[in-house]
Amino acid sequence: TYVVTESCIKCKYTDCVEVCPVDCFYEGENMLVIHPDECIDCGVCEPECPADAILADTDQGAEAWLELNRNFSANWPNIIQQGEAPADAADYDGVENKFDKYFS
Ligand code: SF4
Ligand code: F3S
Repeated sequence: TYVVTESCIKCKYTDCVEVCPVDCFYEGENMLVIHPDECIDCGVCEPECPADAILADTDQGAEAWLELNRNFSANWPNIIQQGEAPADAADYDGVENKFDKYFS
């Protein structure tokens, strides 16, 4: 499966949503997650993210995010269309430790 990681937080560009053939993205207040059981591993979303937030779960640094994607995708609403990124998304692109600072 693929997972959404920290770089998404407060960037939330949603380009990923537009290309997913199985609509398996779920939306929280400041990031999206992928439902690991619905993802068909096509990899199409990975290069589409301007913040490089999407990784295969086997990639370095992705493992810790798998459980978060699983847990939150069960509770957050499905998102199937690209939305508008936050007006200040670029300010948070590449910022480190966004999970500790901003995740809610
Ligand atoms: Fe959707 Fe494919 Fe990305 Fe999985 S890898 S979330 S199926 S676009
Ligand atoms: Fe997040 Fe990248 Fe999608 S910033 S919303 S994973 S396009």
